[in-house]
Amino acid sequence: MSVLHPESLVTRAAGSLPVHIVRKDGPLDGLGDAATAAWAGAHDFTGKTGQLLVLPGGDGKLAGALFGAGDSFDPSSARGLAARLPAGLWRLEGVNGAEAEAAALAFALGGYRFDRYRARPAEARPQLVAPKGMDVPAALRIAAACALAREMVDTPAADMGPLQIETIAREIASESKASVAVTEGEALLEANYPAIHAVGRAASPARQPRLIEIGWQLDRTDLPLVALVGKGVVFDSGGLNIKGGAGMRNMKKDMGGAAHALALGRLVMQSKLPVRLVVLVAAVENAISADSFRPGDVLNSRKGLTIEIGNTDAEGRLILADALCRAGEHRPDLTLDFATLTGAARIALGPDLPPLYTDDDALAAELLEAGRAVHDPLWRMPLWPGYRTALDSELADVRNDPAAWAQAGSVTAALFLQRFAPETGVWAHMDIFAWNPRARPGWPEGGAAQAMRACHAMLTQRYSAGR
Ligand code: BES
Ligand code: MN
Ligand code: ZN
Repeated sequence: MSVLHPESLVTRAAGSLPVHIVRKDGPLDGLGDAATAAWAGAHDFTGKTGQLLVLPGGDGKLAGALFGAGDSFDPSSARGLAARLPAGLWRLEGVNGAEAEAAALAFALGGYRFDRYRARPAEARPQLVAPKGMDVPAALRIAAACALAREMVDTPAADMGPLQIETIAREIASESKASVAVTEGEALLEANYPAIHAVGRAASPARQPRLIEIGWQLDRTDLPLVALVGKGVVFDSGGLNIKGGAGMRNMKKDMGGAAHALALGRLVMQSKLPVRLVVLVAAVENAISADSFRPGDVLNSRKGLTIEIGNTDAEGRLILADALCRAGEHRPDLTLDFATLTGAARIALGPDLPPLYTDDDALAAELLEAGRAVHDPLWRMPLWPGYRTALDSELADVRNDPAAWAQAGSVTAALFLQRFAPETGVWAHMDIFAWNPRARPGWPEGGAAQAMRACHAMLTQRYSAGR
């Protein structure tokens, strides 16, 4: 269950062709010979960002390539190389150290293609020689985690229902000898997950709501406990507050948070981080049937807070309320949740920059710094207490559709989650978009892994540095 091109990074260098990283308006005659400079000139190759030019050898075969770095090389741009270079074995020239390693990982990420529904066999792909000394297996684990999240998001809702998410969770758990517990359908009521049940109960019998819980080395009570929580709405029709056609079109991606939690969980376990791990995924379909929950209903929640439903389209926070409450029962030291929670997040920061919410300044700093270091950015937004009253209800303890005056929909959604977040340890919430709407070479339109590499880097830093 992974579409990563596993051979995208290799350690053997024999027979590789050079990709020269060329700064804009840099000297082209430094590239070897006059013929190369003439070829570059004839193709108007100036070294601007992302410009690619393959070089012919005297025998008509490929001799190498030039790749534009603009004013300074952005390692992420190497994603485009994976999508555009001809098949064959390539090596990067003109970039070293951490930059070269970041570029190699970017190359692996750029090789992702979702062709599950295409008849034609995958064509041969370019491969890259990993820079000397790079931990290639570690990089491939990271790339595979991103590919898993993207593949889950890309897969249509018909083929990525609650059961398929459960199946993937079981595979991930069994790989690392972790435990899995699944609470499904009516059993959610008996086990006291009323909000997850209410949101998902309208789905067809085969697609009943469930809470999936993975536990890894929980007996190691000497280790800190990390909880990862994900929103797994396999399709968000809006429920009875039905979305319009345009707003519903991409809602197969509404399980992106679950995909991120599972993929990051797999990565944490594969990396053998010295932590105890709990992954909690609420997998539901926000469907429409006679059994749908309704505007005006009052739901109970695991925490005991009652929730007035103002809008059935604000469903993610409801399932997360129960999942976060469950996370708290493990008394975690650190909880991270991922959710395609609001359209307002995209209005605030656009599709590429996920809002990060946490009350813990140290955690925020670590996440932002990790995101910068691994080119997986986040932007901190406030859990602004002044908007808390936007969640006040006349009828219940809280309402799920914030009062219109507060406007900041991503902030008020985060404030809602805060009411249910674990009281132990620190908590961060990421309102991810999980989608790339702008196709570029190496960044196909479709599922996007966001904040996951940043979180992994933060966890690695936090828990290997002997804290
Ligand atoms: N899944 C959506 C949020 C979403 C929409 C994410 C578009 C990415 C792109 C979520 O369940 C939702 O519908 N949220 C509503 C909340 C509102 C009804 C309070 C929203 O953001 O409009
Ligand atoms: Mn919704
Ligand atoms: Zn949703």
